[in-house]
Parts: sequence; C-alpha cells; structure tokens
Amino acid sequence: MRTDQSEHRLAIVGSGVMGTNITTLATGYGIPVTLIDVNETVLARARTTISQKLRHAQLMGALPSGLAPGELATSTSMHDVADATTVIEAVTEVPETKAKVLAEASAIVRPGTTLISNTSCIPIDEMAASVARADELVGVHFMNPSYLIKMVEVIRGPRTSEGTMASVTGLLSALGREALVIQDSAGFVINRLLHPLINTAAMLVEEGVAAAEVVDGLLEGCLGHATGPLRTGDLIGLDNLVDSLNVLYERRGDESCRPCDLLLAKVRDGELGRKTGRGFYDYGKVAS
Ligand SMILES: NC(=O)c1ccc[n+]([C@@H]2O[C@H](COP(=O)([O-])OP(=O)(O)OC[C@H]3O[C@@H](n4cnc5c(N)ncnc54)[C@H](O)[C@@H]3O)[C@@H](O)[C@H]2O)c1
Repeated sequence: MRTDQSEHRLAIVGSGVMGTNITTLATGYGIPVTLIDVNETVLARARTTISQKLRHAQLMGALPSGLAPGELATSTSMHDVADATTVIEAVTEVPETKAKVLAEASAIVRPGTTLISNTSCIPIDEMAASVARADELVGVHFMNPSYLIKMVEVIRGPRTSEGTMASVTGLLSALGREALVIQDSAGFVINRLLHPLINTAAMLVEEGVAAAEVVDGLLEGCLGHATGPLRTGDLIGLDNLVDSLNVLYERRGDESCRPCDLLLAKVRDGELGRKTGRGFYDYGKVAS
C-alpha cells in the first residue's frame, strides 16, 4: 500500500470545477500533478483557479504545513498521462466522453496504473467496458471542494481488483482523505440521495411554492442541511447537475431524476451557478 507522497505522480484529465479541486488537494499534499484539458485557454483559467483555491485551502488550514507543494504541469496531450502512477478522470459527465478519455488513457499508461473515475453517477462497470484492463478501474467520488471535505465515496466495480483497491487506499491516505467503500450502482449513495433532492427543490421554486432562499432556509434551519440544496446545486454547477440527473433518469427511470424545466432553462441561459456568477443566486462576479 502506498502512503508516501513521493511514490505518487498524478495525471488528472479535465480541469473544470473538480479537476482544479483535486489538483489543489494533491499539490497541497506535495504530490506532483499533470493536468490535461482540451485547450490552452481552459488550462490557463485552471492555473489561476488552482492558485486561488490553494490560497483558500491554506487560509482554512486544510492543507498540511511544512510540505513542499507538488509540481503542477499542464498539457493538452493525453500522451502526458504516460508516466503517472494514477490517472484521475474528471471530464464532463457524459458517458461517451468519459468512455473515450478512459480508453485513451488506459491504452497509454503502463499496466498496473490505477485509473480513477470521478464520475457523479455513471456505473463504474459500464465504463470498465472501454478500458484495456477493467480490474484497474475504480470510482472515487471526491467531494466539492475536495480540499475541505475529507470524506470520499469509493466505488468498487464488480471487476475492480484487490490490487487496485489497495493502490487507491494508499493514494487517498497520502491525500489525507477518509474513504467509505460501496458497491457499484448508478448515482452511488451520495447522488442517488442528493440529486433528486436538488431537482425537487428546483421544482418547488419553479411551481412558485417558495423562493430559492426560502427552500434553502427551511432545509438549513429545520433539517440542519449545511448550505441548502439550491446553494449546493450552484456550487456543483447546474450543467453538471443536469448531466448527472440525465444519467440517473436514463438508468433508473425515476421521475424525481428527470431534470425539471427550471434547471434546463438555467442551463440554456448560461446561468450555471458559481462558475458563471449566477444560478439560483447572484454571485456578482465569476466565482472560482
Ligand atoms: N461539480 C461537482 O461538484 C462534482 C462533484 C463530484 C464529482 N463531479 C464529477 O466530476 C466530473 C467533472 O465535473 P466538473 O464539475 O469538474 O465539470 P466541468 O464542466 O467544470 O469540467 C469538465 C472539464 O472536462 C474537460 N473535458 C471535456 N472533455 C475532455 C476531453 N476529451 N479531454 C480532456 N478534457 C475534457 C472540459 O473542457 C472541462 O474543463 C464529472 O464527472 C462530474 O459529474 C462533479
């Protein structure tokens, strides 16, 4: 089992909300990261976001002190996953996109390299069909922000090997995370519970039953929810939420997972939440 930072070199594919969160966590724990995305503009924005998130994490005392930060390299070429000890896929929640990225990465890395998908809802075994060695794929559902929330949901696919589980346990330990392991299922535990809740909260706003701040205020005040479901939706990104709800709806057929019209309209209007400065709430500027 690996627990020493120096044994890890991560390649993270996808530099959006989660790619930048996980990169912040890893570099903050002294682990070098090669971050890959489709073009240099996206990567330049990601580098700025990561330095802001590193400052935020340090201010919150969320990273170990006295560790030299891990080196950050960025690239638009998938070939740069070649030397990684672990590849973390954090691209858009579209099954075809993930299958393509995972297939490319698994064809490039050495056998024995752990492949992690940070999917919100797509069953791990569905994606295992696309990789060269299905036993090396595992799901790790890092939370947002990954550097503040210590707990992660680990999804063991039916074909994930003991060796892969040991490797991911070692990495998560080197990242200071705590893990709870579950079996494979669309939406896993967290999002099978959370995403229909956010969708239903949005339906209540759409139907005029209550304004967003009232829905969130009730969930916070009466049920002890930390931020309210709609603020959580804005933090996640409403585009990602709709993609994830579609994955759930297509696989479970549960009506509470069919994205409601208000969510679809917000995505159509580019009101994606904190990442565009407006969602259910107005953030005044583009928040990182
Ligand atoms: N947002 C959250 O709170 C959250 C939490 C946990 C898990 N997730 C999951 O993490 C993953 C990423 O979500 P996100 O919110 O960061 O999305 P995002 O839209 O912010 O970022 C996705 C990134 O993937 C990149 N990308 C797309 N196709 C690519 C390709 N072929 N090669 C390289 N890069 C590519 C995009 O350019 C973009 O930068 C999704 O599976 C999502 O469901 C999200």
